[in-house]
Amino acid sequence: MKNAPIGVFDSGLGGLTAVRQLRRILPNEDIVYFGDTGRVPYGTRSNSTIKRYAMQDAKFLLKHKVKMVIAACGTVSSVASNLKNDLPVPYTGVVSPTCFAAAKKTKNKKIGVIGTSATINSHSYRDLIHSFDESIEVVEQDCPLFVPLVESGFIDKDDPITRLTIERYLEPVMKAGVDTIILGCTHYPIIKKAISAVVGDSVKLIDSGKETAIYAAKILKENDLLTDRTAKGKSEFYVSDTPDGFENVATVFLGDNVEHTVEQINIELY
Ligand code: DGL
Repeated sequence: MKNAPIGVFDSGLGGLTAVRQLRRILPNEDIVYFGDTGRVPYGTRSNSTIKRYAMQDAKFLLKHKVKMVIAACGTVSSVASNLKNDLPVPYTGVVSPTCFAAAKKTKNKKIGVIGTSATINSHSYRDLIHSFDESIEVVEQDCPLFVPLVESGFIDKDDPITRLTIERYLEPVMKAGVDTIILGCTHYPIIKKAISAVVGDSVKLIDSGKETAIYAAKILKENDLLTDRTAKGKSEFYVSDTPDGFENVATVFLGDNVEHTVEQINIELY
């Protein structure tokens, strides 16, 4: 079991932000990634649809005999919290690790949370932060255009469309005087540089992909599930739509030196 792969899924490319960090922290682990590019975005869908999709995604990973499932998706983590109890292997979403990191970082106790509409409507991040510190002000904002921007490759920090969209969504969050912003959707770290250019260096951006990778490493260690192999791990990527768009952004985002294969699968079979 120790040498089985780690399973990671997202509605599309966003979960790569967790994969990138996992590869940095745990370079010898094998990773199986599923991006549901044929059904992205999840964040504008009903809770029952998101739960059904999430279970199919997890089942696909379990077919690959993964030792852990990571829902590298703010939307699934917010809406389908049942996964934790329904899977036969350790599981984590992105909400808890990210909230803990943000609460530690804020100095003025004002945190912004940005995410998909489903995530923001669930108030998952706000409620968890308030469960351990009610005095923290949480300013929530959904940014429904960010996921399509990233999936379409508008990820350059100097792209005027990306910049304008960020400015429009983040204006109320910045007006509230937050010193920390949770990137509550795993797609958002892909445009982290563009977000930072708008909000300025003094505002700390909490990367849900990164915090989740750190937390997943901790869970694997606690369960004695870290690989004992010494060679570099392999990554396999699966998508539910044509791999071309995924391949382009994945290469830019993960770096050229990441050896990988991308294959299209039919997720409705799971
Ligand atoms: N990366 C997903 C998230 O973290 C995007 C959800 C969507 O597809 O709308 O929420």
